[in-house]
Amino acid sequence: MTQATTRNTLNEPAGFAQRLNETQITLARIANAFSPAVFASSLAAEDMVLTDLILKNKTNIGIFSLETGRLPVETLNVLEQVKQTYGYQIKLFYPNPAAVAAYVENKGLNGFYESVELRKECCQIRKVEPLGRALAGNKAWVTGQRRSQSSTRASLDVQEQDEAHGLAKFNPLADWSEDDVWYYLQQHKVPYNALHDQGYPSIGCAPCTRAIQPGEDIRAGRWWWETPESKECGLHVVDGKLVRIQK
Ligand code: ADX
Ligand code: SF4
Repeated sequence: MTQATTRNTLNEPAGFAQRLNETQITLARIANAFSPAVFASSLAAEDMVLTDLILKNKTNIGIFSLETGRLPVETLNVLEQVKQTYGYQIKLFYPNPAAVAAYVENKGLNGFYESVELRKECCQIRKVEPLGRALAGNKAWVTGQRRSQSSTRASLDVQEQDEAHGLAKFNPLADWSEDDVWYYLQQHKVPYNALHDQGYPSIGCAPCTRAIQPGEDIRAGRWWWETPESKECGLHVVDGKLVRIQK
């Protein structure tokens, strides 16, 4: 496991304090006005910022992860680190075993490399269906998405309406930069996924994530064999559109 202090020390990015303050206000508002609310954590860097804010401030927002069965061991290690650091057990949601077995039998364990359709079918089984169960009964959910992560997220709002699941959706880090994220993690000595120090700025399932080369887009290592437009797994996009109806 890695601590942010092992990276080069960052200076405070311009406007950081204000963005942090607004994020804290947003989280408090969610806990007060949208209870019960949950935070979906992929255990990647952005999500560790939100995890730290929620758990240190004892904000009333539950945290869950979608344990797809294909996550890298470095990601699973973060679960243990969260438990050790904060005394908090992140709730895990797993795919339906029968659906996984049918996919593996009919499409192959790694059938997702063959076509976008087969890839989305795997994401549907391992992520999207479990997400529906994780969100059931809640008034809002929270993500670690940022605008600068990809072109498909460029118009992301802090508050959206998730039409597909029928609840409010918050992206409290929407206007944070990557430097903001790492500055926060360093300042607060937050544990993070060891893969981030091995060329992985964006981390998903092991067979669908690889390290990027210097200068490449930060999501270039996700589903690298696909074109940029299809690189979403269905958690946030349905049929190529952002899952939202109001700003
Ligand atoms: S993805 O749609 O391409 O997989 P990405 O990895 O960028 O998403 O993460 C964006 C946000 O989606 C995360 O900040 C988190 O809120 C949510 N998310 C992604 N993967 C998971 C996961 N396995 N479990 C819970 N939430 C996740
Ligand atoms: Fe399946 Fe890859 Fe999607 Fe994970 S990211 S659910 S392994 S297709």
